[in-house]
Amino acid sequence: MVRQVVVAGGTGEVGRQLLALLAACPDSSIRALVRRPGSVAISANITEVPFDYEDAAAYLTVFQSPCDLLLIALGTTRAKAGSDEAFLRVDRDYPLRLISALAATHPKGRVGLVSSVGADRGKGLYLGAKAAVEAELTASGLAHAIARPSFLRSERSEFRPLEVLVDRLISPVWLALGRGLFPRSPGWWRWAPVHVREVATALLEASLALEPGQRRILEGVDLHPGPVARWGR
Ligand SMILES: NC(=O)c1ccc[n+]([C@@H]2O[C@H](COP(=O)([O-])OP(=O)(O)OC[C@H]3O[C@@H](n4cnc5c(N)ncnc54)[C@H](OP(=O)(O)O)[C@@H]3O)[C@@H](O)[C@H]2O)c1
Repeated sequence: MVRQVVVAGGTGEVGRQLLALLAACPDSSIRALVRRPGSVAISANITEVPFDYEDAAAYLTVFQSPCDLLLIALGTTRAKAGSDEAFLRVDRDYPLRLISALAATHPKGRVGLVSSVGADRGKGLYLGAKAAVEAELTASGLAHAIARPSFLRSERSEFRPLEVLVDRLISPVWLALGRGLFPRSPGWWRWAPVHVREVATALLEASLALEPGQRRILEGVDLHPGPVARWGR
């Protein structure tokens, strides 16, 4: 039974969806790690925990309390971070620290991670960071589920030109062609843009169902279940 959940990245697009789903699980108690108090929607079972990701001691402190499930939806962009090093702090180092702190304190805990399509062939700055985190999860021995979405669709208020281009122009065509011609094609759906709601739903379901030591990778049709039936979603 998963009762105690820690969420890192709950203010982001996928993270907010995770928290919205968790808010509907009254038996679970959720701690959302935040940089700025007042940044997540609080409900009866969700509390904010102000967290300094640069403070090494904070990682052990947070896991002094019970934790059955750690959900990680952290991320930034190279442009927003300002340097390769700053990007890697967020996309690689903070998740690595969270995972190793959980493994040290709660070896029976489980992890749900938002990674990226292509992380299995992780080269370059972005995919290299994702691959490093995935490798750490494997080495940790913790049961884990990894979502590897392609481009995310969301109602993001921040302007990201590539996401807008994909969402407005490429997604409608890609999804319509997939539903019409390739509803079960793993390759097609692996690269299909996917809404953050679908990612969060699939990742949470898989994380809650993990058996001890199990590893689950969610990509393609795992993140687009029943694409034909879901026409219009
Ligand atoms: N965008 C895409 O198309 C795409 C595609 C595939 C995979 N992904 C991956 O999916 C994951 C989730 O993406 P998303 O779009 O939901 O992310 P997002 O909306 O950009 O949210 C990122 C989260 O990371 C936190 N964060 C950012 N910089 C931080 C820092 N310096 N220190 C501490 N926390 C920081 C944010 O907290 P604050 O609110 O405090 O800033 C926020 O909670 C990411 O790992 C991303 O790489 C994205």
